[in-house]
Amino acid sequence: MTPSNDTNSRSSVLQNYRALPLGILGRSIAVSGLVLLLLYAFLSKSHDSPFSDSFNLPFHLQWPADSSSTSVHNTTMESPTNISHIGFIVIGSLNSWRWRKAYIESWWRPNVTRGYVFLDKEPTQEFLPWPATSPPFQVNADITKLRVFPRIANPLQVRMFHSLLDMYRVGDKDLRWLIMCDDDSVMFVDNLVEVLGKYDHTKYQYIGGISECVKSNADFSFDMGFGGAGYAVSYPFAQAISTKLDDCIERYPYLWVSDHMAQSCFADLGIALSIEKGIHQIDLHGDISGFLSSHPQSPLLTLHHFDTIDPIFPKMDKFEAIRHLMKAAKVDQSRLAQQTICYQRKSNWSFSVSWGYSANIYENIIPRSILRKPLETFRPWERNARPPFFMFNTRWVSNNPCEAPHVFFFESIEHNPENGQVLTTYVRAAQRNLPPCSASGNHSADSISKIRVLSQAKTRKTAGVIECCDVDYKAETNSSDIKISVCSCKHRVKNALSIPISRIRVQQVPGILFTPFCPHSLSFRSMILPEHVTIRVQVPFNSRNPAWVSFDGKERKQLTAGDALVCSMAPWPVPTACQIDSANDFL
Ligand SMILES: *[C@@H]1O[C@H](CO)[C@@H](O)[C@H](O)[C@H]1NC(C)=O
Ligand SMILES: *[C@@H]1O[C@H](CO)[C@@H](O)[C@H](O)[C@H]1NC(C)=O
Ligand SMILES: *[C@@H]1O[C@H](CO)[C@@H](O)[C@H](O)[C@H]1NC(C)=O
Ligand SMILES: *[C@@H]1O[C@H](CO)[C@@H](O)[C@H](O)[C@H]1NC(C)=O
Ligand SMILES: *[C@@H]1O[C@H](CO)[C@@H](O)[C@H](O)[C@H]1NC(C)=O
Ligand SMILES: *[C@@H]1O[C@H](CO)[C@@H](O)[C@H](O)[C@H]1NC(C)=O
Repeated sequence: MTPSNDTNSRSSVLQNYRALPLGILGRSIAVSGLVLLLLYAFLSKSHDSPFSDSFNLPFHLQWPADSSSTSVHNTTMESPTNISHIGFIVIGSLNSWRWRKAYIESWWRPNVTRGYVFLDKEPTQEFLPWPATSPPFQVNADITKLRVFPRIANPLQVRMFHSLLDMYRVGDKDLRWLIMCDDDSVMFVDNLVEVLGKYDHTKYQYIGGISECVKSNADFSFDMGFGGAGYAVSYPFAQAISTKLDDCIERYPYLWVSDHMAQSCFADLGIALSIEKGIHQIDLHGDISGFLSSHPQSPLLTLHHFDTIDPIFPKMDKFEAIRHLMKAAKVDQSRLAQQTICYQRKSNWSFSVSWGYSANIYENIIPRSILRKPLETFRPWERNARPPFFMFNTRWVSNNPCEAPHVFFFESIEHNPENGQVLTTYVRAAQRNLPPCSASGNHSADSISKIRVLSQAKTRKTAGVIECCDVDYKAETNSSDIKISVCSCKHRVKNALSIPISRIRVQQVPGILFTPFCPHSLSFRSMILPEHVTIRVQVPFNSRNPAWVSFDGKERKQLTAGDALVCSMAPWPVPTACQIDSANDFL
């Protein structure tokens, strides 16, 4: 175990004293013993074992008897969900298509993404020939023919809702999901494929997002998928709706908004909304950079309302700005707008990177719990709403030099497909025009003009898992380099024959880290096991040699055939002390 290599004052260490559920220290000692044993046991059986050609670990995991028996999505016979399984229903109108097609074309992949833009009328000569870069079009069915038409309060909105049925009637094959969105919605399709893949598409599903504003949700429903943000329905559900949709319009002709009608209809079929955190209605006005710089740890799926917000990058128009974001999205959507926070102790700075979008430097050590709250750079949808405006916590924009960030925006991306390395560069938006933060030692970041962030695109970021970063500040070039990596020892194992435990970074997860030292084969990797398991390492009964176990390098003990070492979590916590948090340093 290394203590933090900082000679910080004892009082600050004590202030941050905290107890972990179980000391990682204690666990690691036990595990290092285990690991040696694993090796002995493995070697001893490798010659005479009848199992030696199969990958058979010489230990057993005991899971508690009550461990989950929940039904798992049946994927055994089925191919994973891919982009061809999604049909997009882009609801447009001929009038707005003139400019809004730029939003759709920013994410549409001709001949790859499937679906249509649904228009209110046949395109006129001006729109023809229909470009191959746009989704093909369909014209909505004429709802004036519906018996209920005279009673419909808002025919435009009913036409929008009716697109779901119109799409179903087109009859495209092999779809698992239909996604409804507007003509000013931007979809992140790789992330949608991943997130929808987690759901069972053979069941009835309705997946969407609610508004950022409390008032919008209160006015409609906290259980309604806002249509501009996009909502997905599984194909069997679309099939079920297709027979009920016209009845439904007859039941609710007075509803003013199509999404509200959809939600009422779906509720009648017994289906409630599943909310995904990456689906964004963007019921906001002004500068949403604060929102996108502290996005939740969840894949970015959709963004809406580009006509009503400021361009998301300074010095660009709305369309350029979205195409610019897509440069990063094309390389690695899984990390897009995912926040990574790291600290530079030498100058008491906090860095917050929203990958592919922005990077912020604070001249102070600010806890992650605070940096995760968006800076309120934006305004709520309705000016006359009463607080609380938003569905999430925000931070006030401040002129306090210890709280106001230096803001940098995504400038360029370089991708090396060979080794998967991605370098994104962020440049300063403007000078901060504030004195340095004196409480943390007057370390000005004014001279930094550029932040370069190195990440790895070979593996997609696991949704919900926070990645680590290390900062390297280069005073000579006025730039800072940040390296983002997965917070686990896996990448450090690669060809290593031994892993110094001191180099393993620890995330605060309740679990047991099982680390092979000098593994017999490279397929032996570290494992993180749930904290409640019992690990049993046993010398096989037919082993010709005994095994040895040692605890913390001392007290060697021989194990003969049939003997086992059983290891489980101690019931008592081991306190650790840290200066920032246990993901960064601990004693
Ligand atoms: C999984 O799907 C296959 C084919 O669709 C089916 O034959 C099998 O019974 C299913 N298994 C379960 C556990 O539902
Ligand atoms: C998606 O999976 C289907 C099989 O379910 C396959 O036929 C199709 O080629 C795949 N499409 C892509 C783009 O991988
Ligand atoms: C899409 O496919 C069609 C027919 O297969 C082809 O003519 C067209 O060039 C393709 N478009 C693009 C953008 O690849
Ligand atoms: C960092 O800030 C603390 C006060 O928060 C201060 O005591 C310490 O000296 C500062 N460190 C440096 C290197 O300036
Ligand atoms: C920072 O600078 C201010 C003004 O120059 C000074 O009053 C303050 O003592 C300085 N703080 C530290 C920690 O050096
Ligand atoms: C770094 O920034 C400082 C202050 O803005 C400036 O004087 C210096 O020339 C810059 N150095 C480089 C290498 O750009």
